[in-house]
This record gives sequence, structure tokens and C-alpha cells, in this order.
Amino acid sequence: MKRLLVATSNRHKVEEIAAMLGTGWQVESLQAHPQVQLPEETGSTFAANAQLKAEAASRHLPELWVLADDSGLEVDALGGRPGVYSARFAGPGANDAQNRARLKEELAALRTAGDVGPWSGRFCCALVLARGGRMLECCEGRVEGRLLELEQGAGGFGYDSMFVPQGHEQSFGLLSAEIKNALSHRARALAALLPKLQALTAS
Ligand code: IMP
Repeated sequence: MKRLLVATSNRHKVEEIAAMLGTGWQVESLQAHPQVQLPEETGSTFAANAQLKAEAASRHLPELWVLADDSGLEVDALGGRPGVYSARFAGPGANDAQNRARLKEELAALRTAGDVGPWSGRFCCALVLARGGRMLECCEGRVEGRLLELEQGAGGFGYDSMFVPQGHEQSFGLLSAEIKNALSHRARALAALLPKLQALTAS
């Protein structure tokens, strides 16, 4: 089995990536490597932040294949926010529930101002593969959809319960993991990266 370190301590991201990769990979997270500290996410794009994380983790563990995910939600009526600030929308150290509460406040403010939706948006994901401290590949994926002011379902993580992907009537918080992993931003980025990863690790 080939080892792949996913440079995150977000267990949901690791579970999704491991499920999508299937057998043949031993997927590890930073929980198995507590000595690795990720840098501050100072980039202005998902790709720049994914590169920062992948290269930093890869410098610590140069013998491993390292994959970093940077992802988030863009809401058109909010000018693309929260974007790269999705994990800290409600402030530094905010948790998912606090970030969703902030998004609900912003959607309520839009409604009060006369914009009653539907509010379009998308989840975006950049995946960067690194080895020996250097980025080898970067692939991106998106899933378009609409935002809900009222949460629907308790599955998934982050903003899943407030996002209905195009072509569906239910949020990612209600849809099964199988459906999410077939069409999500992360699934699409990984589908683009997978052939490159397989080619690089074939020998
Ligand atoms: P990152 O760890 O800096 O990439 O932050 C990602 C943030 O974007 C998470 O904390 C979530 O709030 C949000 N996010 C990214 N991907 C998803 C997803 O698949 N579902 C729901 N929220 C997500």
C-alpha cells in the first residue's frame, strides 16, 4: 500500500479523500504527525493556501506523498465571501457552528435589504500534491449550488447543511456521503489529480 499524508487535521476532509481514493492507499492525517505545524494561510487564493500547507508538511516529511486541501464557500450575493476565509468567517478560531451562524446573519441582512434569493454560490477546492518539500501538481474543483438560510440535515461538516448542490433538492447535510463524494468540489479536484498521482507513484 502506498502512503499518502493529507496535510490537515480536519477528519472530515481526510475521510472524504480516503473514501474517494479507495483501496491501495494508506491515508494518514496530521493527527499521526503532531510534530508538523502548518503555516498561517496567508494566500489570497485556495491554490496558494493549499501550496503553502502541502510544501510545509512535505518539508517535515520529505519521504511521503503529501496532499493538502484548501477549500471554502463563495456566495455571489456576498461578493464571493467567505471564500478563503471560510474556516474563520466568524473570526480566528471560530468553529463550524459559529461560521454558519455568521453566514445566516449575512443572508438575513440580504433579505432585510430586499434580496430574497435564491442565493447562488459554490464550494471550491484546491488540492496540491507535494514531495520533498516541493509542489508537484495542483488541481481544482467546484460545485455550484444555492444557499439556505435555514439549515437542513446534520450530516457532513462546515457549511454542508446550508448548501444545496445544483441538480438536487436537498442540502449536503441531508444527501448521503456517496452522493456528496460523487459530485463535490473535493471529488472533482481529486478526479483531476488522481491520474497524475497514479502516474507519479507507479514506479
Ligand atoms: P480550510 O481548512 O482552510 O481549507 O477551510 C475550509 C473551510 O471551508 C471549512 O472549515 C468549511 O467551513 C468550509 N468547507 C470546505 N469544504 C467544505 C465541505 O465539503 N463542506 C462544507 N464546508 C466546507
